[in-house]
Amino acid sequence: MLIIKNLKVSVLDKKILKGLNLEINDGEIHAIMGPNGTGKSTLSKVIMRDENYSVDGIVKYNGEDILKMTTDEVARLGIFLAMQYPISIEGVSNADMLRTALSIREGKSINLFKFVNELENAYDELNFDKNTIHSSINEGFSGGERKKNEIIGMKMLKPSLIILDEIDSGVDVDNLKIISKNILKYKKESNASLLIITHYPHILKYIKPDYVHIMNNGKIVKTGDYNLALSILENGYEASVVKEDNTCE
Ligand SMILES: Nc1ncnc2c1ncn2[C@@H]1O[C@H](COP(=O)(O)OP(=O)(O)OP(=O)(O)O)[C@@H](O)[C@H]1O
Ligand SMILES: [Mg+2]
Repeated sequence: MLIIKNLKVSVLDKKILKGLNLEINDGEIHAIMGPNGTGKSTLSKVIMRDENYSVDGIVKYNGEDILKMTTDEVARLGIFLAMQYPISIEGVSNADMLRTALSIREGKSINLFKFVNELENAYDELNFDKNTIHSSINEGFSGGERKKNEIIGMKMLKPSLIILDEIDSGVDVDNLKIISKNILKYKKESNASLLIITHYPHILKYIKPDYVHIMNNGKIVKTGDYNLALSILENGYEASVVKEDNTCE
């Protein structure tokens, strides 16, 4: 279970998160929507302990104090972030990176045959080119291919809390279906929790959220269900949430 209380985050004296509260129970699916620059990616990076940010407040996962941890320790707790802008890493392959991560977490070397089998399976299920298994991570990949590669990482690392930061952006309609199907399948097998950051309800049509939160100006200002996502698509933020939030201040 993830508990975030009164989270305040700043960088270079700029206040980004201004008292954010959020609780995600095991197996729940939460979505966060909100205008550009409102702090959604910052929230995901702070959970993964990006050290560029100054933090204050409480972030606990299964009772563990995340804000006192390093990225590596948070990943070992079973939290996984699919980044909004996945980077390429020259000289390190998907296979190397995932096998190393798994063997560090397990504290022993991973059976190569079993690992390769599982990795090839993940590539097949994502309809992804297996020739790239041993090439540099994301090098030469299109935007959508990078997003699919994040889901391969998710399937292999088997997290218990999955944060998807705009996994749908730059992904075509067919691949969005493939990505969503793989996320849902994994969620069914593992009862993992999901935090889906998105601008559009399309992905939420496939992965129905229990809660939809609207974030504005560094805080969650409204919570509802899938219908809230649809009303944002219809009316935009300005029309409802942002105005309401500004009048509260
Ligand atoms: N490392 C940083 N240095 C300086 N400013 C930052 C940094 N990280 C975030 N910001 C600023 O904080 C604000 C929130 O950024 P963030 O990326 O969290 O927004 P977002 O809600 O994810 O937006 P989008 O929907 O466009 O992805 C922005 O104004 C951004 O420029
Ligand atoms: Mg973002």
